[in-house]
Amino acid sequence: MNDPASLKQLAGELQACRRCPLYRHATQVVPGEGPARAKLMLVGEQPGNDEDLAGRPFVGSAGHILDEALEDAGIARDKVYLTNAVKHFKFVPRGKRRLHHRPNAEEVRACHLWYEAERRLVRPLLTVALGATAARSVLGRAETISAVRGKILDLPDGGHATVTIHPSFLLRIRDAQDRTQQKRNFVADLRRAAQFIAS
Ligand code: URA
Repeated sequence: MNDPASLKQLAGELQACRRCPLYRHATQVVPGEGPARAKLMLVGEQPGNDEDLAGRPFVGSAGHILDEALEDAGIARDKVYLTNAVKHFKFVPRGKRRLHHRPNAEEVRACHLWYEAERRLVRPLLTVALGATAARSVLGRAETISAVRGKILDLPDGGHATVTIHPSFLLRIRDAQDRTQQKRNFVADLRRAAQFIAS
């Protein structure tokens, strides 16, 4: 990879990525999106089925929950740089459906140089890792969410990071009361992130 001079150039170079086998079955690569100098970067796991088809991050059901939570936290989505730890959709076919399959540590590692290139261009003040896969990429080590959630951590490039749940976790909670509470906690994490970049 030549170090890209812009997010547009980075997105162009991503199209040719063959660093791991995931490009073979995905429809297309899904680059990050948002302002080149966003103060806040949100990192998800990988594109889902809808993102793979649209070529944009967080446009499916997890994206809708994220949009609601961002709004509740007073954060404008178009002021945030949104990306994923892994930029191709990993899935297992089940009849006509494509079921999400979590990327492994090797795939996260293979994609990490794209994330680093995004960081060099955007230089966010705070990066929010959504879920354990994103936390692995952002922190450079495996962490359980409960061990680091809510803390503001220093990153080697001078930025800061915090870890919260992945919005798709909320989709899997069956109990309505529990889901409401977990969503409130998620919004509170995002609100703290907004306060951090405003301070
Ligand atoms: N889940 C993610 O982690 N990222 C997306 O872009 C969509 C769903």
